[in-house]
Amino acid sequence: MTLDDIKEMIREIPDFPKKGIRFKDITPVLKDAKAFNYSIEMLAKALEGRKFDLIAAPEARGFLFGAPLAFRLGVGFVPVRKPGKLPAETLSYEYELEYGLDSLEIHKDAVVKGQRVVIVDDLLATGGTVYASAKLVESLGGVVDSILFLTELTFLDGRKKLDGYDIISLIKF
Ligand code: PRP
Repeated sequence: MTLDDIKEMIREIPDFPKKGIRFKDITPVLKDAKAFNYSIEMLAKALEGRKFDLIAAPEARGFLFGAPLAFRLGVGFVPVRKPGKLPAETLSYEYELEYGLDSLEIHKDAVVKGQRVVIVDDLLATGGTVYASAKLVESLGGVVDSILFLTELTFLDGRKKLDGYDIISLIKF
């Protein structure tokens, strides 16, 4: 298996969720045990040599890669969620999506000052989602070690928004 195989399995759905958006659907990768496992192994490999305490990931697709990766690496997992989902005291940050405006929340006690955090998501598009996640982690005193993606839509230039952060992506479209 190679990352090119994974790239080929990611299917494009035209006009979802809105006209003009070509949605990258990772569900074929998830349902294939070998491909899913390989993806997590490659994400783990990309973090080799880094020292960090936690993986944080935005819902929902970030959870699909962030949680198994945290389990694989033996670090804790922090969910970053859409408004009204986290039960304890939260911080929130409003951000712009590829298609709309949204906000994200984190539990105030999710990160301890000085902890190093890797942010993981399935896809880098405009960068708004992980930018908000990074700002939430930093508001709690955490240090963003790096931001790791399975895929990146290079033509949307999300890296520009994330200037100053260490960005890693495995598959580029
Ligand atoms: C998608 C994707 C990333 C984000 C990328 O999530 O999983 O989190 O958009 O876009 P950006 O770089 O422009 O912020 P979405 O908000 O669709 O939510 P979901 O994972 O719950 O489907």
